[in-house]
Amino acid sequence: MTQDAATLLERLRQIVGADHVLTTDADVAPYVVDCRDRYHGVARAVVRPASTDEVAAVVRACSDASAPIVPQGGNTGMCGAATPDRSGSEIVLSLARMHAIRAIDVANATMTVEAGVTLAAAQQAAREAGMLFPLSLASEGSCTIGGNLSTNAGGTAVLRYGNTRELVLGVEVVLADGRIVHGLRGLRKDNTGYDLKQLFIGSEGTLGIVTAAVLKLFSAPKARVTALTAVADVAHAVDLLHAMKDVLGDRLTGFELISGFALYLSRKHHPGSPDPLPGHPWYALLQFDDHSADVPLEDVVESALSNAAESELIADATIAQSQEQAGRLWSLRENISEAQRREGQNVKHDISLPISAIAQFTRDAEAAIVAAFPGARVVVFGHLGDGNLHYNVAAPEGVDARDFLENTPAINGIVHDRVVAAGGSISAEHGIGVLKRDELAHYKSPVELELMRRIKSALDPRGLLNPGKIL
Ligand code: MLT
Ligand code: ZN
Repeated sequence: MTQDAATLLERLRQIVGADHVLTTDADVAPYVVDCRDRYHGVARAVVRPASTDEVAAVVRACSDASAPIVPQGGNTGMCGAATPDRSGSEIVLSLARMHAIRAIDVANATMTVEAGVTLAAAQQAAREAGMLFPLSLASEGSCTIGGNLSTNAGGTAVLRYGNTRELVLGVEVVLADGRIVHGLRGLRKDNTGYDLKQLFIGSEGTLGIVTAAVLKLFSAPKARVTALTAVADVAHAVDLLHAMKDVLGDRLTGFELISGFALYLSRKHHPGSPDPLPGHPWYALLQFDDHSADVPLEDVVESALSNAAESELIADATIAQSQEQAGRLWSLRENISEAQRREGQNVKHDISLPISAIAQFTRDAEAAIVAAFPGARVVVFGHLGDGNLHYNVAAPEGVDARDFLENTPAINGIVHDRVVAAGGSISAEHGIGVLKRDELAHYKSPVELELMRRIKSALDPRGLLNPGKIL
């Protein structure tokens, strides 16, 4: 170890305590690989500050030593944004010890939480205050608010409540030079110039390190109904979405599309999963929430679904009769990602399209993929309600999954060319990280890329914050 490296580690120990500067291979191991096992990095150290002042002091120490920093929350990201590179020069800055709920203001319908609070803990704190924090995703037990902000996470309730960007009123951020932006304002109106917080949201730790945020809360729903429906194809699912919005309006809070094959994988890798509507090519999982208890929500949903059945929009449906049943229906959907991990690596896409373009896109893309890679298995699921699909391509049966990954550039081309041609985006909710950096360079317009680079160099002129991510 060089003199400089030893000095930096000593300084970091003085800031956070020796126990929170991890350097042994065993201690560092969980922080240097991503959850999909796609990126394996090397860290000079993992530092675990416990306060915003400590984060700021760590950043100053790293800046003085010209050491790049990789901020990390729950390490559940899909694009490698929280994994260090292989140089061994980067410091992983884990926000895990910053897990305080700083304040809940019920009258203002806001909650101030630190970056390392897990999403599930934030939801629970809101619930205990009689409120709802609506952000919801499969990894909510381990992903953190800091990571949610840094990727502008979406999930299953965006249709009704918007994605993370729309759920944040204020942020506290440590800048690349160690200064702190104290922006924890809980205001729904604030037109004092540029909306700086939105720069940090979705910037994947490349512009600053979010240490806390003011989040919007909502009234807790009084009734909740979950239904699984079987549909003939994606076009029918899109029509069903429209019909349900028409009848139930804002009470439709989630609309998830699941292909028959995605459901098969979910059940295959999670024995004991229910099989309520076997044998259909496509499914839509619907969630309804109601704030008034005047007309029983279940009656309205039942009548809307029976009308949908009469007009042949759906082939079959089941409505959960208890919270436990609803949880089991949701587990079919939420286990897909893990099932795919167990099945083997696949070429993953996180795309968004105008909802009106989705049916045509899925038809064209699948035909093109199967023509180019006979036997390739397309695993489609996602948040149809907000136009976001996880459009994943797995190896043909019997072909080694890792070998099949060599086709990633060609498969990306087939999928992303069609997405962009249809007015869509190559990253809906997972971000860019390393996984989609080259794709971003290819598809984003030169003028937008130049603006992004200028913003990066204005906020991080020495390129020490999460280098190599996004740009
Ligand atoms: C999901 O919707 O399940 C998540 O975005 C994770 C994934 O795409 O695998
Ligand atoms: Zn998703």
